[in-house]
Parts: sequence; structure tokens; C-alpha cells
Amino acid sequence: MANSPSGDSVTDRLIRVLETFTATRTVQTAAEIGRRADLPPSTAHRVVGELVDAGLLERDEDRRIRVGMRLWELATRSSHALRLRQAALPAMEVVQSRVREHTQLAILEQDEALFLERLSGPGSGSNVARIAGRLPLHASSSGLVLLAYADRALQERILAGPLAPTTRETITDPAVLRRKLAEVRAVGHAVAPGFIEAVSTGVAVPVHDETGGVTAALSVVLPRDEPADAALRELLAAARDIERTLGARR
Ligand code: PHB
Repeated sequence: MANSPSGDSVTDRLIRVLETFTATRTVQTAAEIGRRADLPPSTAHRVVGELVDAGLLERDEDRRIRVGMRLWELATRSSHALRLRQAALPAMEVVQSRVREHTQLAILEQDEALFLERLSGPGSGSNVARIAGRLPLHASSSGLVLLAYADRALQERILAGPLAPTTRETITDPAVLRRKLAEVRAVGHAVAPGFIEAVSTGVAVPVHDETGGVTAALSVVLPRDEPADAALRELLAAARDIERTLGARR
């Protein structure tokens, strides 16, 4: 890609523009986008205009900009995440209807757990996980499952820290984390009481794909002191169902 005088490529600038949109910042002016993406105003207006013309961004009557449906369409229709989510949804619905707590599906993405789906009921409690949101690997049950079955290099990178705490229960000692990962592999699931928020316990199991590797973590978020056993049985049965749908080898 052609580089600008400042040395960043067209792709760099495009990514910076798109990354200014977040779960809580869905509408911005072109000037705000430029400031946040660190682009000169004229460049920001040109790039935003081109993206609007292409349908990747949309402009409302007040000339404010939001992410365009065309971007969602292009990103979604051929995605691996969509296939996984579709394979998992029926089994996730069974878990959600029986356990009646948040039920979610996460994958490993750039050293974090990225949530592809979350089903919640009216009575479900607190939950910090969001669809298309991320949680740290060491501080969530899904993350611990993904990390426990990840390749050695990634495990060592995370173990090298920093292991930032979000609660008093988050594992911040690499030796303790190493033991926890060994335990997850030994028992085949992760229980994370209060690791990411003090009021909840995350319970997660691995989902294998046709290569035999762990492709996702399936989890529920329980109120902190609720026993995990019944939810765990549902999660394990659901993971088997998803694996059958994916044609997984185990
Ligand atoms: C977890 O995966 O451990 C988890 C996720 C979200 C929460 C609580 C726990 O709100």
C-alpha cells in the first residue's frame, strides 16, 4: 500500500479510523475521528468520505458518521466466527434454557478471549463479557480454557506478564497461573470464582474442532456462590453437540 509522508500506509490509516469506533462510541464527526485516529483534518475528511462512498461507513442527516452495514456484511458472511457461532447456537440455547444464566462462546484472538456470542435471560445476573468484546486470558474462565490448550509460546508470553488484576481473586502470580492451567487440562474445565468481577463465577469447557485442537471455549457466568456442577454437566454435553456439528475429532 502507498505510504503517506508520515510513513503510515493506507491500510494503517483505515484501521485507525475503524478502531475509533467502540461499543460505547458508535457515532462521531469526521473531525473527532481524525483526532482520535491521529490524522490531519484534510486526510480524515478524505478517508472518511471514501469509506462512506464505499458503504463501509455511513453518514446520518446530521453528517455524523457510524459503521456501515456493508462492513458488517463483508466481515460476517465468510467468517470462520460465523460458522462456529452457527454450529454452537442450538446447544447454547439448550444450556441457557436449563441453567438460566449467561451462556457464551469465546475464541482466542491476539492473546485475548474474544466473545462471539452471548445468550442471556431476564433473570441472568451481572456479566462483563460483551459480543465482539474481549477479556484477558488469565482473568476469565473462557480465557483460562483457551490458554490452557494454546501453544507453548503463547502460554509463556502470557505467563511472562504483566498479569493485571481486575479483582482481589484474579491470578497475578505466574506460578499460580501455571498450576491453574495444568489443573484445567487435567480436569477438562475451568472454574474462575470472582476472577474478573467479584460477584460472579465463570465456568468454561473446551470445544474441539475437526483438527483435534481446541477452537473455542463455552462458558456460563453464575452468581458467585452458586455450585458449578449442574452447569458444568450442561456445558460438557453442549460442547459434545457442537463438536459433532463441527465434525470434530477428540
Ligand atoms: C468468566 O469467563 O470467567 C466470566 C466472564 C464474564 C463475567 C464473569 C466471569 O462477568
